[in-house]
Amino acid sequence: MTVPTALTADALVARHAATLAAAGVPTPGVDARLLVRAVLGGTRDGALAGDDPRLSELDRLVAERSRRIPLQLVLGATWFRHLRLVCRPGVFIPRPETEIVAGVAIAAARDAGPRPVVVEPCTGTGAIALAVATEVAGAQVHAGDVSDDAVALARENLAAVEAGDADVAGLADGAHVTITPSDLLSGFPEDLRGTVDVLVSNPPYLPAGDRPTWEPEVADHDPDAALVGGRDGHEVVDALLALSAEWLRPGGTVVLEIDDRRGPDAIRAAEAAGLTVAAIVPDLTGADRAVRATRREERP
Ligand SMILES: C[S@@+](CC[C@H](N)C(=O)[O-])C[C@H]1O[C@@H](n2cnc3c(N)ncnc32)[C@H](O)[C@@H]1O
Repeated sequence: MTVPTALTADALVARHAATLAAAGVPTPGVDARLLVRAVLGGTRDGALAGDDPRLSELDRLVAERSRRIPLQLVLGATWFRHLRLVCRPGVFIPRPETEIVAGVAIAAARDAGPRPVVVEPCTGTGAIALAVATEVAGAQVHAGDVSDDAVALARENLAAVEAGDADVAGLADGAHVTITPSDLLSGFPEDLRGTVDVLVSNPPYLPAGDRPTWEPEVADHDPDAALVGGRDGHEVVDALLALSAEWLRPGGTVVLEIDDRRGPDAIRAAEAAGLTVAAIVPDLTGADRAVRATRREERP
């Protein structure tokens, strides 16, 4: 009789990292460790018997990742600031650089007073809206998306936050979130026009011509409408800057994630919309990642 060999977590990581590397996965070691951790529940102690049923579950997840399905879809979730967000095919997967964009909006909302009104078009999973609502006391957040799948998933992620599910940050004191089907701002209450303290968004902002350069995880799994902002790439950014001039209160702030090659264009578009550009915000790699601008105060 053959005695199954015991396997340590480190041995499993090494074995599956080699499989993922052979499949062309860009970060095989990190992905293997996260998949092993997802199946073993975080423990790195002891060894698994070679016939442990969790090993076949791990093999199944590694096979999916080897087909270049994004790690977040294999695991069904991702982390974003203090949140664990459910991820699902058909809805854009939140990216780490957007955590910085959310952080700029959070700072602006905190500066705005006790019940800041924050609107977030293009919400996807609800990542930015929920980050604001879990980190800013009193925030009144209105989020929307043109995709029905995104609206459904954002509502599901909101329900987990409202329910105080384990592993998920809860709503900040007095914060409230509404998620609405909305093409840009068209689905938001009209009476918000001219009253918004912070408009924040990570809209589609890539040019269609970039498609051939995308990794399979992006090209085959992120919805095209979440990525491409018209032929020139910044059509949605430009539209949101123009809308900001109408929807922000005087002194209100807009924060938009942008194509890192388009910082100077974003400044020009904000100024053309009548806004005062406060900053181009770099991400952790130093790339131009967001534009922050304000609506001018009205003169007495
Ligand atoms: C780059 S994704 C960002 C999603 C989310 N904010 C995040 O950072 O993870 C862009 C999102 O904009 C949505 N979208 C595209 N065009 C839109 C429009 N005209 N109005 C509203 N949402 C739109 C897409 O469905 C997608 O969910």
